[in-house]
Amino acid sequence: MLLARACSIHVTTIKIHQRTHSILLTLTPNLLSSISNSATMIPLPVIQRGLQTLDRSMFRTTVNVIALRIPASMTNDCKKTLGTDLLLEPKIRNVIDSDDGEKSKRLVLLNLSIKDEDLKGASEKTKTFIKEKNIELTKTHITVGYEHWTADEILRAVLPEELVDEAPSSFTTVGHIAHMNLKDEYLPYKHMIGQIIMDKNPNLRTVVNKTDSIDTTFRFFKMELLAGEDDMIAEVRESGCRFKLDFSQVYWNSRLHTEHERLVKMFSATDAVCDVMAGVGPFAMPAAKKGCMVYANDLNPSSYASMLENKVLNKIEGNLNIYNMDGRDFIRQAVKDLEASGYQRPPDSTVVVKGKKTTAKPKGAAITPDSTSGTPSTPTTSISTPISTSVTGKRSFKTFDHFVMNLPASAIEFLDAFRGLFKGRESEILEPKKQLPMIHCHCFSKSEKPEEDVRERVEAAMGGRLELDSVKLHWVRKVAPNKDMYCISFRLPAEIAFASDVKRKLETKSDSNNSSNESNITADSSTSESESVEKRPKTE
Ligand SMILES: C[S@@+](CC[C@H](N)C(=O)[O-])C[C@H]1O[C@@H](n2cnc3c(N)ncnc32)[C@H](O)[C@@H]1O
Repeated sequence: MLLARACSIHVTTIKIHQRTHSILLTLTPNLLSSISNSATMIPLPVIQRGLQTLDRSMFRTTVNVIALRIPASMTNDCKKTLGTDLLLEPKIRNVIDSDDGEKSKRLVLLNLSIKDEDLKGASEKTKTFIKEKNIELTKTHITVGYEHWTADEILRAVLPEELVDEAPSSFTTVGHIAHMNLKDEYLPYKHMIGQIIMDKNPNLRTVVNKTDSIDTTFRFFKMELLAGEDDMIAEVRESGCRFKLDFSQVYWNSRLHTEHERLVKMFSATDAVCDVMAGVGPFAMPAAKKGCMVYANDLNPSSYASMLENKVLNKIEGNLNIYNMDGRDFIRQAVKDLEASGYQRPPDSTVVVKGKKTTAKPKGAAITPDSTSGTPSTPTTSISTPISTSVTGKRSFKTFDHFVMNLPASAIEFLDAFRGLFKGRESEILEPKKQLPMIHCHCFSKSEKPEEDVRERVEAAMGGRLELDSVKLHWVRKVAPNKDMYCISFRLPAEIAFASDVKRKLETKSDSNNSSNESNITADSSTSESESVEKRPKTE
């Protein structure tokens, strides 16, 4: 529950000649450092450190303030003249009713550094104004509470001294949920920390702590509730789309939004895009909204369910097909289904009959459980007519323009699924250089030469060389001090796409010290396609 944010102001008149102490609090060095970083000049009261529950009443404190008693009509003039000599404290009014019962009078509160009737610390302009206008000075006090300080200031006040320097006031949000990553030494105080974070951030309803473990397959964090409602269904917006997701069951990382946008920008509205590990759809939804024909898949049933829901939320119709299967199987299935659907990218010279969209049940399409109805659902595809033909009159083979594979710890291992993917289709793919898809594969690298490292691993997985002029390595983000996330983009080489041997091992430098471009390629045509599927990597 959020606390009321009002602060009460109590006024006591003290005669000008009386000497009083305006601030009676002892400041520890830590308090001072927190105060110096803050916009407030009101020091925190001395709080008992190391408690594991939050007692907000400990933060109530009173400070003395010098005030000018003036006719109400003079208020604006007075404020203008006083400038920074005014009390400028967040959420505290610096003009209040006079305490002498005179409705036509006001008290204008001065900056807390002006502690006495001698106005030491005030500007000459202020002093002259007070003297010339013969203004009465008085002493009053203000009382503030827990609501006055920032989360960081409160945390620094309540945690044991030795934990203050790295007080954890930062967090990441996913909709109404804040997730923190508390170090072990802060765990005894975790519920108090969570409560402070929630109190100080009115948009939050839930604060969780990520525990060390991550679901190895589906990449979502295990977490525990620190404060607020146990409601993990979040709604977030990205790239003009809405995403509803169960944060306790699926992967979501707002830090990837630039990467999501970067790839979607690369797609043209007439492209066909295959998102192999789509999560809840941060590439797939915006691409479909843009007009691309999208096939999106995730092995996690919760991500799949979320994609189905997000498709509706974003009013996406026939051009988004959602699957729930292993990524390696999906690559082959999606290629078959796209072809079976009769999909053809309308070339510039082809007239597309607008609005003539057919819902097709493609032959061999994956039947996947629809979590909302419990009945099987089949991907639906909108078909544009007519089907394009080449200048020679031969029907051109249309497949995906882009594959996206964002499972950075193991996506490279799935690349063998592309080997022989278009075997026997050479003559239909009229201009292989242009028509073979681009693959965007995310990965991690700890190497000082990431271009070499990533390319070698890709080539090893695919069993063939990349065409260097099509390869681009994009740095995505740092994930650990010595570990970066990248996206390697390259055009599927014809040699691999049309390979007749499904499995082929290409050694990397680390496999062999004697490597040369050709000598380290070993063909293993005895391995069948089904065997290679059996040997699929577990997860990221
Ligand atoms: C790092 S997340 C990326 C999700 C999404 N593309 C994004 O950018 O937010 C990787 C996703 O791969 C999914 N995944 C893990 N193993 C998979 C597999 N064998 N086949 C398909 N998807 C898989 C996980 O469930 C997870 O949603």
